[in-house]
Amino acid sequence: MQFPAYATLLTDIRDTVLTITVNRPDALNALSSRVIEDLEHCLDAVSDVLTNDDGAWPVRGVIITGAGKAFVAGADIREMTAMSPDDAHAYSSRMHQVTLAIEQLPVPVIAAVNGFALGGGCELAMACDVIYAASTASFGQPEVSLGLVPGFGGSVRLPQYVGPGLARELLFTGRRLDAGEAQRAGLVTALFDTVDDLLDGAHSTLALVARQSPAAVALVKRTLIATLGLPTDEGLAIEAESFRTAFATEDKAEGTRAFLAKEHPSFPGR
Ligand code: HXC
Repeated sequence: MQFPAYATLLTDIRDTVLTITVNRPDALNALSSRVIEDLEHCLDAVSDVLTNDDGAWPVRGVIITGAGKAFVAGADIREMTAMSPDDAHAYSSRMHQVTLAIEQLPVPVIAAVNGFALGGGCELAMACDVIYAASTASFGQPEVSLGLVPGFGGSVRLPQYVGPGLARELLFTGRRLDAGEAQRAGLVTALFDTVDDLLDGAHSTLALVARQSPAAVALVKRTLIATLGLPTDEGLAIEAESFRTAFATEDKAEGTRAFLAKEHPSFPGR
């Protein structure tokens, strides 16, 4: 599969892993409206190829990373100076849709954080399923230093990652976490010495995902997102529905058959 050229994104597919690189290094990959529009189109294109019922899964995982020394240094501060309060509301809501589009992709998305992930950049990373980082990465929500508040999901997702206490401290102070502290805080799952190692590590994880049932992985992702923050009994009810859904898939029939036959499964992907 091929993607069109985007003004601010690079795309690359290798072994069913799509890498999306935000490519505006002169502005530290700040999320201008052009970047947001490109992300919308790119995520739509991935979603389109994955929402078919022919069992073909040309993409089994996505990596989002940044070009140069930043992952994403936030919303575009220059562009925000011209916004009215109503424009700002529309901008925030539009960015929220981008985060929801990432959550709705039926494959795992890894944020490979190579450098600064600040404000909207940290929020973009947190919209992904897993955050991996290079030792050069740093994270923060410095909105209060600009007289702003998070507008791309940080008030909701940061406490989910690091707990309410640390999230409050970070959101009140704008203090940055280096990669090691971000890992100890639970924001980052795996830490790598170099950016090359980081991308290799993300690829390896997604290669492991690609050996599993695509239908089951999609269902796990959907269940995790649907149950996040729910009371236990409501979450368990959703899990039981997912378990029912899994039993109606050809992947379940193949996975259990192959186990009992002592063979490698060949998943139909539906
Ligand atoms: C626009 C940005 C930018 C941003 C950096 N640049 N961040 N432009 N929006 N968020 C530009 C700089 O203006 C500069 O352009 C070039 O990128 C290089 O940046 P420098 O500051 O010279 O680099 P450095 O000294 O290495 O400092 C790196 C930095 C700093 C610490 C990351 O750039 C910084 O603090 N950036 C802002 C981070 C931030 O506050 N983010 C949150 C934004 S609010 P020129 O033309 O001078 O070379 C937000 C709200 C989200 O994200 C909610 C949305 C709805």
